[in-house]
Amino acid sequence: MTFFWGKWKSSSKKKQVSKSPPAQQGGATEASGASATHNADSLPGIHDQEIAPYDPHVRVLKGGHWPNIIPKDADWDVFQRYFDAFLANYVETNWDQANILRKHFHAMLPDAMKTCSSTDGSMTDMWKDVKTAVHQSAEVRAATGLSNIVPPDNIHRMQKGDPLWVGDIYSSEMVTEALRKSGINHKEGENYLDFGCSSGSLIRILKAVHPKSQFYGVDPIESAIDWASDNIKGAQFSVSAANPPLRFSDNMFDGVTAISIWSHFADFSALEWFDEMHRIIKPGGWLFFTTHGLNSILHNLVHKRKSPKRVRALFEGLLGADFVFEETVKRSEKDQSLLDVAWGNSYFRPDWVMKNLCDKWDILFFHQGKNQNNQDLYVLRPKNF
Ligand SMILES: C[S@@+](CC[C@H](N)C(=O)[O-])C[C@H]1O[C@@H](n2cnc3c(N)ncnc32)[C@H](O)[C@@H]1O
Repeated sequence: MTFFWGKWKSSSKKKQVSKSPPAQQGGATEASGASATHNADSLPGIHDQEIAPYDPHVRVLKGGHWPNIIPKDADWDVFQRYFDAFLANYVETNWDQANILRKHFHAMLPDAMKTCSSTDGSMTDMWKDVKTAVHQSAEVRAATGLSNIVPPDNIHRMQKGDPLWVGDIYSSEMVTEALRKSGINHKEGENYLDFGCSSGSLIRILKAVHPKSQFYGVDPIESAIDWASDNIKGAQFSVSAANPPLRFSDNMFDGVTAISIWSHFADFSALEWFDEMHRIIKPGGWLFFTTHGLNSILHNLVHKRKSPKRVRALFEGLLGADFVFEETVKRSEKDQSLLDVAWGNSYFRPDWVMKNLCDKWDILFFHQGKNQNNQDLYVLRPKNF
């Protein structure tokens, strides 16, 4: 079941909408802020609805499979208990940070550049050492394979504001750790793709760790791809379209990473892109991706990104449906992303993944809320047919 939130503009996405229309997915609801007070019967294909009392932007189905899980007068403790109970099966807690890359790069620094001890210094300090050394010393750059080039402000990247930026270290550690926990061992010479690579922040670190592998990056933002092509050596970047296919041949990749990409696709687009990944990933290869899940909803509240009312509505939405789509992403802010109806904020549960992907994929690994205490993380492997 999919819950759509936002005005559906089917005109610019006719092909995909007709393939998997939102209103036909298990009686899913569709709503927009503008039309939320309309009589539900006036919407084609949607009947028997009522407006949820706590949020005018959300319509829920009467009775049936939409559980009235949170009473309308529930307080936060009640909400939290429901939240915890629902997550109990999925949450994995208290994992040690692997810090694989930090140790790797810190060990490559000359002693004079280590201001903290490599054994008992805090991990943040260790990275500060590495970054400072990378920025100051050509020898360290040569030894680590890291570069000190920072994209200018007008070039898309997610981590702004770090003067010692050398790339997306946090994400590379997350990928490395998840692959290790999935039992995946890197082999020299493999082909990797970062899907939605922006200006190549992840690739530049992974390339330094695995210099003998081939790295490819694709993204629809041309200026980010141009910058990455000009400044990140040893990797191949190209502009991709909003919709599949990519220009790559079948079974080309040993692994694909995609951070904060499936957190934005509408469900029909998400499924099309999973199929495309299945086509380009070799048998035995892997797909690492992150997406919004239940943790993200709480994260929105804690970081005051959405009102409590909206958060609660979203939470109820994701309890009642396994996929929720908000067509309300602020496109101009960080993403400069596509004006595409299939790109918004999506939230999905592991059971959506199981239901929709398990005929073609094995789930090797799942970590709830791992990415920045926000997004869920999955590692999948294509099934052999
Ligand atoms: C939230 S950013 C994440 C960027 C990068 N993966 C990271 O973690 O820093 C989303 C990225 O997805 C890209 N994007 C938008 N539509 C896409 C599509 N259809 N296929 C691939 N990437 C897309 C955006 O241009 C943007 O760079």
